[in-house]
Amino acid sequence: MRPRRGDPIEVKSPSQLAIMREAGLVTAAALRAAAAAVEPGISTAELDAIAAREISSAGALPSFKGYHGYPATICTSVNDQIVHGIPDAAKVLAAGDIISIDCGAIVGGWHGDCALTVSVGPPQAAAAGGRYPRDELDSLLRACERALWQGLAQAVPGRRLTDISHAVERAVRAAGRYGIVREYTGHGIGSQMHMEPAVPNHGRAGRGPVLVAGMALAIEPMLVLGEPSTRRLDDGWTVVTADGSWAAHFEHTVAITDDGPVVLTAEDGGAGGFAALRPGSWAGKPEPAGEPVLVGPEVAATRQHVSDALEATDGI
Ligand code: MF3
Ligand code: CO
Repeated sequence: MRPRRGDPIEVKSPSQLAIMREAGLVTAAALRAAAAAVEPGISTAELDAIAAREISSAGALPSFKGYHGYPATICTSVNDQIVHGIPDAAKVLAAGDIISIDCGAIVGGWHGDCALTVSVGPPQAAAAGGRYPRDELDSLLRACERALWQGLAQAVPGRRLTDISHAVERAVRAAGRYGIVREYTGHGIGSQMHMEPAVPNHGRAGRGPVLVAGMALAIEPMLVLGEPSTRRLDDGWTVVTADGSWAAHFEHTVAITDDGPVVLTAEDGGAGGFAALRPGSWAGKPEPAGEPVLVGPEVAATRQHVSDALEATDGI
């Protein structure tokens, strides 16, 4: 989703960011609850109800519901659906599917937005229709999540917007031959869900606005196993790959602060995700060849987990 072009970028005060942190934690909890319920036989409408209950019990509001008429609390996008799939009681998950769940919540007028993709069923479950082996899907998911964290690591004062885009693209290219969806991007976030600037998931570094403390961004790479062109279904929302290949989507809301990137929708603020960027530490898998960890020294000075990531590399 794109914000209206040309709006100024909203800069939040520390106390506003503190409320965004609350929104981020509620959003993360709702997403986690829905993701934990994923199993063969559950419908995407049931997942929606779980997230809705979590958000309302926290005294928060679902931000997607009613957004340009969107009818649900979460988006559930299965297999070749990339984003914005509408939960449906008739859409029942099967072992071997992959599902992206996207959630947004509002606390005190401030937004959180995050998404993840998980496999359905035990690791030995064959992909539905035998279309993809499970390890190929696992690699897709891991590449997308890792690219997200490489982008998040760039969310520091003094960098330019497309340093994020470039870091995402580099991480994807290092991980394998994946398509990067270009027709949808991340976005600024704060007093509204979609604000300036749009955050592309590819491109040259060093372009776009300079990042300053108090900005908040939702970074959300979408990767596909085939060609990245998209098509929208007749429901007006669901975005699918034009070629039917399967897709992954991971998203976090991050605050740019003088203390480095604070991942508002991660329970630990991002410590675990950044630590996992250290060579050799990504889910115990070997590092994709040639991938640098692009974290600036200004972050290392103030945030131990990011400086750990920096220590293990040359920085820039
Ligand atoms: N995280 C999604 C995005 O930024 C949220 C879509 S919300 C919907 O595009 F309401 F438009 F579905
Ligand atoms: Co978003």
